[in-house]
Amino acid sequence: MKHCGLSYGGAIELQSFNAVSVAHQLTVLKLATARNIVDATAGNGRDTLFLAQNSGAQAMITAFDIQKTALNKTRQLLTEHRLMEKVRLIADSHANVARHVTEAVDLAVFNLGYLPGGSHEISTNADSTLAAVQQLIALLGAGGLISLIAYPGYPAGHAEHSVLQQYFLQLQPKIFTVSCWQMINHTGKAPVFYLIEKVRS
Ligand SMILES: C[S@@+](CC[C@H](N)C(=O)[O-])C[C@H]1O[C@@H](n2cnc3c(N)ncnc32)[C@H](O)[C@@H]1O
Repeated sequence: MKHCGLSYGGAIELQSFNAVSVAHQLTVLKLATARNIVDATAGNGRDTLFLAQNSGAQAMITAFDIQKTALNKTRQLLTEHRLMEKVRLIADSHANVARHVTEAVDLAVFNLGYLPGGSHEISTNADSTLAAVQQLIALLGAGGLISLIAYPGYPAGHAEHSVLQQYFLQLQPKIFTVSCWQMINHTGKAPVFYLIEKVRS
């Protein structure tokens, strides 16, 4: 695990965990056998790269983004790592995921919010994220996972997180388990990681 080694108030920061690293650690085992993987928010491609690097030769990753810049960055990063043959890029909203993905999904990942370094105006939102999550819940195979990181620290992200949390709370416990992780000694607005597993078909 990488230590950031950043200076923070004169002290050396030794933070090993954040929502993204926890999401990666809890999904890496699933990746070994996953065949059908969805990255619902490609962004700069770092999550897509993680999925491609840690999955087997059998895996195909379908990565969505509504911004051309994001898809170009993802293509560039995956090409640099010679992993683009495992990735299918889709220039469409993840709200239309079921139009592009029809087979059982082993793992779907969401890293919500806006493109790091891009416009803050173009962000995920409650309606389209909920539509995508609902379609992916229906597409999940038995043992399938959805990993989702929400950012309640800005107004639209707060609203999006509330809608998703309400939806997750009512998922049938006999069929799904839903767990979450957040740093609770920060502001209460820290990113929240959710892991949904389909435990029965
Ligand atoms: C926080 S970034 C994702 C970070 C990315 N996973 C990475 O590793 O760099 C969120 C991305 O979601 C994209 N996005 C926003 N609304 C979307 C939608 N409806 N469908 C697909 N992507 C969307 C944004 O364009 C942005 O690139």
